[in-house]
This record gives sequence, C-alpha cells and structure tokens, in this order.
Amino acid sequence: MLYGRMAERETVERLVREARSGVSGALIVRGEPGIGKTALLNHAAETAGAGDTGNAANAVAAAGAGVGGRGIKVLRGVGVEPEADLPFAGLHLLLRPALGLLDRLPGPQQDALRGAFGLGPARGERLLVGLSVLSLLAEYAGTGGLLCVIDDAQWLDHASAEALLIAARRLDGEGVGLLFAARTPGLPAPGLPELVLGPLDDRAAAELVAGHPPDLAGRVLAEAAGNPLALLELPRSLGTARPGELPLTARLQEAFGRRLTPCPRPAVPCCCWPRRAPASWDRCSPPPARSVSPSRTPSRPRPPAWSRCVTTG
Ligand SMILES: Nc1ncnc2c1ncn2[C@@H]1O[C@H](COP(=O)(O)OP(=O)(O)OP(=O)(O)O)[C@@H](O)[C@H]1O
Ligand SMILES: [Mg+2]
Repeated sequence: MLYGRMAERETVERLVREARSGVSGALIVRGEPGIGKTALLNHAAETAGAGDTGNAANAVAAAGAGVGGRGIKVLRGVGVEPEADLPFAGLHLLLRPALGLLDRLPGPQQDALRGAFGLGPARGERLLVGLSVLSLLAEYAGTGGLLCVIDDAQWLDHASAEALLIAARRLDGEGVGLLFAARTPGLPAPGLPELVLGPLDDRAAAELVAGHPPDLAGRVLAEAAGNPLALLELPRSLGTARPGELPLTARLQEAFGRRLTPCPRPAVPCCCWPRRAPASWDRCSPPPARSVSPSRTPSRPRPPAWSRCVTTG
C-alpha cells in the first residue's frame, strides 16, 4: 500500500491515461535509495492494469482493469548491476515479449535490432537501434496503448540506455509511455521530464510507523527523515539498539552500503549515514560489530554536515 505521494501518483497516472488515448510521453523518476521509486513504478504498472508488480516481469494488462476501466499493455525492464557492462542486455530484457513483431519494421531497422541482439550481423548503427526501438514499441502498443516501466535504470548498460533515450526523445503519437526510475546520480537524460522524489510528508511517514509503540515510532520518524525504506526497517533494529546507536538492517546496508563513509572523527571507529543531519548528528556510536569494508567507501570526502554516525549489524 502506497501512503501519500498524491501528486506523484497523479503524474504517473496521467502518463498511463495519455498512452491509452494515443499520446506518448516519457518520465524519469529520480531519488535516493529507498525513497519509493519502485513503489511508484509498481503503482503505475498496476494503474495500467497489469496487476503484476514483479521487477523484471512483463505482462499484458487484463481487459477491464486499469485507468478508466480499460487496461493497456505493460512491458517491464530493469537495469541489472552485473549486466551493466553487457551491451543491449537491458534492452533485451525489456523487449523480449515484442521481438515477434520485428518483421513489421522496415528492413534496416529489423537488421539493426537483430544485430544488437545477436540475431544477425552486428551493425553498430546506434541511432538506427534507437529508432528501431521506437518503431517496435509503437507496433507493440498497437491501438491500445503501452506502458514501459524500466526500474533501476542507473544500472542499464550504456547501449540500452542510449537506445531507450533516443526513442524517448522522439515519442509522439504512438500511445507509448516510457517510465524510468533511477537513483541519483544515474542515467543522465537531458531533454526529458524528471520527477524527483523527496521525503514522504509527515502524515504518510506517520502512517508507515503507526503500528509501533509511540516512543519507538517517534525515534524512527526522526531518524528516517521521510525515507520509506528507513521507516520500515529501522523499527526492527532500533528496538534493540544501545543508546546513541543507529544500527542498519541488511536491507538498509544493501541500499546505502556504498555511501557509508568512515566517521569524520577518526578517534571514534564508526561509519556514517549519508542523510540530512539532525542536530544530534555527531553522536558517534561505539565500534560497529561489523564494519563497512574500506573498499566500498567513496574516496571523495563528505561534508560533516550531512553525515551521521551509525553502527551496522
Ligand atoms: N509511499 C509509500 N508508502 C508505503 N510504502 C512505501 C512508500 N514508498 C516506498 N515504500 C516502501 O518502502 C520500501 C522502499 O521503497 P522502494 O523499493 O520503492 O525504494 P527505491 O527508491 O526503489 O529504492 P532503490 O533505489 O533501492 O531501488 C519498499 O518496501 C516500498 O514498498
Ligand atoms: Mg527500487
């Protein structure tokens, strides 16, 4: 269940409505880890009538569901970090269900996409691949509309990202909505509209922690600073934390791991939570049970004002 985010929901719902009525559009949803990008993309996919919220799953919307009672087709893709160096890996994940329509494209476009996916000789015509993606999506949309949902786009391989963005900039009357989510920074996409997700508002944040005892809920609200992942995860670890500690669950470590930095006060071994700093930011905790590997810490020095001291575990 999605709390708050009314304006953001409306923005992605409009993209779906317009795709259904034959108007194409693109949108990049941006924000820090855990801020709710995937949740919003799932909402868009459900709105489109797919009913399938799996990350890389592709689905055709069921008739009778979705915006205004009629579903539209949904294609889902995702950037996969281990495949970020493999040209066209992300595009292949997205387009697999549509490849049966390749024959409908002009010959050179067919050849370009076949070359990209190893179904024919590689041709290396980058613009043509992007234009072919646009043509294939238009064919797949038909007259009913199509929503493409591409999550974790910061991990798309360069060739896929380039082709998708070439297509996105040329969308017109195909009835295709292209909805990306990317962490910040990631997927530079000049010329395309962006929706930056900020913290949840106070009311939505309070709803997320409503099931916890008031003192724990109050501390979680203060520590999480509106990040939904932190709002959901911190109650599990804060309940057993020693005074002054801010422990991270495995999910939070996974989301923020690379951005944890050594404590700016070297005398106190701990690591730092890369968020806005409440007044109490400098309460360094005791040495962590498990420290963050130095190889995963960025070399760029962080301003102390946005660092927080935490333990991991
Ligand atoms: N508005 C919301 N209401 C309720 N739960 C939410 C909301 N936004 C996000 N969540 C939940 O918070 C958690 C983190 O959200 P989500 O996975 O969408 O973040 P993300 O921005 O995609 O993070 P990442 O960059 O790591 O992929 C999920 O469990 C999600 O269901
Ligand atoms: Mg996500």
